Amino acid sequence: MPTFILAHRGASKYTPENTMPAFHLAYRMQADGIETDVQLTKDEIPVLIHDENVRRTTDGTGFVQDYTFEQLRMLDAGGWFSKEFEGLRIPSLEELLEWIRDYPLFLHLELKTDVISYNNIEQIVYDLLSKYEVLDRTCISSFNEGSIINMKAINPSVETAYLTSTKMRKLFTYLNSLPADDVHVKHTILGRRLVYQCRKNKVPLRVYTVNKPSLLRKCFRFEIAGVFTDVPDIAWSVRAAEER
Ligand code: G3P
Ligand code: MG
Repeated sequence: MPTFILAHRGASKYTPENTMPAFHLAYRMQADGIETDVQLTKDEIPVLIHDENVRRTTDGTGFVQDYTFEQLRMLDAGGWFSKEFEGLRIPSLEELLEWIRDYPLFLHLELKTDVISYNNIEQIVYDLLSKYEVLDRTCISSFNEGSIINMKAINPSVETAYLTSTKMRKLFTYLNSLPADDVHVKHTILGRRLVYQCRKNKVPLRVYTVNKPSLLRKCFRFEIAGVFTDVPDIAWSVRAAEER
């Protein structure tokens, strides 16, 4: 299996993160999959935005959870990035699923429940994945163990990943206590020992956010399961050169 190239928030170096053009570009750049972040609006619509607060990536202020979906759709989610993208909207998860069901892409959905605990988000997301028949190519990840537990309780066959940015001495003891299938770690904690332990325990390892060619090369040589990258085009060239 090659190390999969997963476009982090879409091809987010070139397009506003977590927008439909970012996902479309990731496909054109031959990414194997897409990573995106899910939060819930006030009326419980799952939407794709990284921060709990809309300030950084829109022309609005305040928290996603305080907007209805209709209100959130009035915000400009592209102008902060460049003039060319002015007028883009925050996509709903459903909009992404409607598009992705016809494309051969893996989907990594990160439930952003580590700061705000969105009521019932796991069931709401699960129902949509089921409706669009993409469960067999989706992995649900979260920094919040509770979301992984809730998702597995809904359907144990859903692939789940525990996300961590800190080096944990007892990572595998901890992972064994969780219903997580995979582990996603920050690139700063990637090392030979972790790769070895994941392989020994048969736990797929993916690393975020890998943009530098030297680090991408290292990941490909370690033959880990995947890299989350803002630059799927660069990742693709590095991987192709390694395969030659
Ligand atoms: O899912 C991997 C990565 O996206 C986790 O960090 O902050 O970019 O969502 P963040
Ligand atoms: Mg994320």
